[in-house]
Amino acid sequence: MVKQMRILSVIGARPQFVKASIVSLRIKEHHALEEYIVHTGQHYDANMSDIFFDELRLPKPHVNLGIGGGEQGAQTGRMLEALERTMSEAKPDIVLVYGDTNSTMAGALAAVKLHIPIAHVESGLRSFNRLMPEEINRVVTDHISDILFAPTCLAVDNLTREGIDHKKIHLVGDVMYDVAMLFSKHADMHAKVYGDLELSGKDYVLATVHRAENTEDRGRLVGILEGLQTIGAHMAVIMPLHPRTRKKLLEYGIDIKRYSKIKVIDPIGYLDMMVLEKNAKLIATDSGGMQKEAYFYKVPCITMRHETEWSELVQCHANELVGADPTRIVNGFHSALGKTESIFEAKLYGEGDAAVSLVSRLSEVQAS
Ligand code: UD1
Repeated sequence: MVKQMRILSVIGARPQFVKASIVSLRIKEHHALEEYIVHTGQHYDANMSDIFFDELRLPKPHVNLGIGGGEQGAQTGRMLEALERTMSEAKPDIVLVYGDTNSTMAGALAAVKLHIPIAHVESGLRSFNRLMPEEINRVVTDHISDILFAPTCLAVDNLTREGIDHKKIHLVGDVMYDVAMLFSKHADMHAKVYGDLELSGKDYVLATVHRAENTEDRGRLVGILEGLQTIGAHMAVIMPLHPRTRKKLLEYGIDIKRYSKIKVIDPIGYLDMMVLEKNAKLIATDSGGMQKEAYFYKVPCITMRHETEWSELVQCHANELVGADPTRIVNGFHSALGKTESIFEAKLYGEGDAAVSLVSRLSEVQAS
């Protein structure tokens, strides 16, 4: 019998559970591949982790390293040490990492030092802002990876410009689009979330904020809340609150209840989020994934940052960069209401078969 190729996947943060779900499914369907899943523990609350495994039918991890919290460097360092040990024991033929989190970079660094080939899903994204921890994670990971799965043409261009050998780069589309298409039909079963939120009509704005650049700066966080509070006078604003943001509010002594027009809720699962995203009038966010999901569901988006890795969305006017300034956030809301469906027509993220292409390429790697 031919030996199966062993893929060790490193996941740890909420967006990675989403991306990995479809890839794990496709790996499972492939006779020549076996997967060993390592959860770093970066996200550990039940509604930041377990719920995604259950809803997206992501196989339970073989190992959970339990490394959540801490400063950037300390968190990454602890992950690196534990991942090196895990990889030495599991002896994978290839290590698969996703996106741009500390778990991504730690996984790639551990693998490269053990001379294990690395495949990077969602490669080539750039904000060109190296103050963002995610940008450092992306650049480092891309430059030590052997197989780079780019979701868009722009990502391919970024990698080419940085001198990465084109033979390593594979334009496959976006796995998040695959997941959205696969689970879209289940979303309506989650309509209960409307009742829970007492949303009678569907006129509401869905908002999230968690990026370090917004949460580490009290002024920016207040600016965002002021902007959303003003929007709240026109339309309901729902905000599932990330644990990082909740902690920071407490630290800054900001009582979120003062922003009476913002309906703050705990983080929610993928399917509830999908329902809320699909039916929103506007998505206001600093998340990378939600900017794309807004586009998948033809919902206008304002991004509360100064730059985005998904600049094709800004070019086609589906997304507007508004920073953390309350006036720009409110203006963004008003202009988004006038947008037409035609801006969402281009197939920017592939055909929903990115994971199939990616796994097919992985299967060509030789098992040792
Ligand atoms: C991370 C990623 C970011 C991604 C985001 C998705 C990095 C550098 N950033 O940011 O790119 O968009 O995940 O959510 O990797 N915490 C909890 N419960 C949890 C998870 C975190 O309380 O389940 C706390 C942590 O202890 C920490 C804070 O929230 O104090 C931030 O967590 P951290 O792991 O630094 O990452 P995120 O801010 O979530």
